[in-house]
Amino acid sequence: MIHLQLFNQDHLQEFCDSVIINRGHLSELGWIEYGNQIVVKSVFTDIIDSPEYIFYVIRDDDKFVGMIETKDSEDSVKLGYWIDKDHRNKGIATQAVKMLTGLVSKPVIADTTLTNPASIRVLEKAGFVKYREDKVAIWYRFAT
Ligand SMILES: CC(C)(COP(=O)(O)OP(=O)(O)OC[C@H]1O[C@@H](n2cnc3c(N)ncnc32)[C@H](O)[C@@H]1OP(=O)(O)O)[C@@H](O)C(=O)NCCC(=O)NCCS
Repeated sequence: MIHLQLFNQDHLQEFCDSVIINRGHLSELGWIEYGNQIVVKSVFTDIIDSPEYIFYVIRDDDKFVGMIETKDSEDSVKLGYWIDKDHRNKGIATQAVKMLTGLVSKPVIADTTLTNPASIRVLEKAGFVKYREDKVAIWYRFAT
């Protein structure tokens, strides 16, 4: 069973370790730099200091298996997420997205590239509906 834990500075090292292990699998995520631990730590430290973001560690029996975050804006909250490569296709992202949509009071949106079928599937399984699409990306909102 997974649970979400609000990210704090104590999680920074395991986050960086996991990003380095997973960086070849995280090319879809613009905010993760292809760099060493120092670069990853510095980029992420800047992001977590931004007041609009709330990050959660996803744990499965206390093991770090991924991250999910919300980015707040005036009229909605945008989701982002990633799962450790050894824990994918077990339904973890779908569970985490469902949990987070239950915690948020504003409309929840997410976008993903057309070349990311796993993410598209996660959003569909979690009850999101497509509201926009172009040649590169699809935008979803949670159907309340
Ligand atoms: C996208 C991601 C978060 C999915 O995490 P996950 O825990 O594996 O997701 P789930 O197990 O909940 O669901 C994955 C679904 O995608 C399907 N899937 C996986 N790879 C697929 C592929 N290449 N083509 C089609 N479907 C695929 C799985 O079969 C599963 O669907 P199912 O339950 O109907 O069988 C994970 O792959 C990841 O971290 N990717 C890199 C970061 C990323 O892309 N984040 C999202 C940015 S928008």
